[in-house]
Amino acid sequence: MAEVVIVRDAEEAGALAADAIEGLVRAKPDAVLGLATGSTPLTTWRSLARRGLDLSRVRGFALDEYVGLPREHPESYRSVILREVVDVLGLDPLLVRVPGDDGGPLTTAGRRYEDAIAAAGGVDLQILGIGRTGHIGFNEPGSSLASRTRIKTLAARTREDNARFFSSIDEVPRHCITQGLGTILEARRLVLLAFGEGKAEAVAGAVEGPVTTSCPGSVIQLHPDVLVLVDEAAASRLANADYYRYAWDHRLEVAGA
Ligand code: PGA
Repeated sequence: MAEVVIVRDAEEAGALAADAIEGLVRAKPDAVLGLATGSTPLTTWRSLARRGLDLSRVRGFALDEYVGLPREHPESYRSVILREVVDVLGLDPLLVRVPGDDGGPLTTAGRRYEDAIAAAGGVDLQILGIGRTGHIGFNEPGSSLASRTRIKTLAARTREDNARFFSSIDEVPRHCITQGLGTILEARRLVLLAFGEGKAEAVAGAVEGPVTTSCPGSVIQLHPDVLVLVDEAAASRLANADYYRYAWDHRLEVAGA
């Protein structure tokens, strides 16, 4: 089962996610981080940046990228990752990859991205948001639980949600290249964050629902090491919320763990 922590707000969640990353990087200065875009991870990056850690050897792999936007477009995930993660954390941009960023043919970009992740030794810790559709990465409902990095079509709801970053919904791309659910499951640790009432249904499906392609986030139930950080609103549909609070309040602090 995922460890579910119901936090006060996004700041507290960001601090806990940053604790996890800090612990990892102190033990492994060239750790491989799985990077997420969107609004959700912003408090994590800010909290981590305040710690003054040397992150210059950390390697990063983004979850996904739009297909059809020029690389330099301010909303391409390459641009977003450079602006919101690389610059904020002081990462080496040469050590950070985004799917399809190598200039090779798009049709085989997924395979090359998988090879690059494998060559780096795999992702140590993957930061995840979750969409209202239940997507993680851009794996929309219907995605195979064993899927690998590939081109996908964005759900209409996801395009609506992401329209806030563009001047109109018509500018939101219809396609993307995303790590698959099978790819994400191979990360050694998953940290999923979600805030707000709009995510409550997706969070309940991911944490407590059946494991199903209808809620791609539910694939996290197949992973042995998952931390879920949610605020009260995002936790509001969790049937076992009292148990998660109880377990967190009585957590066993084991030295060295
Ligand atoms: P958000 O997106 O962080 O902007 O809410 C999450 C997602 O779509 O995975």
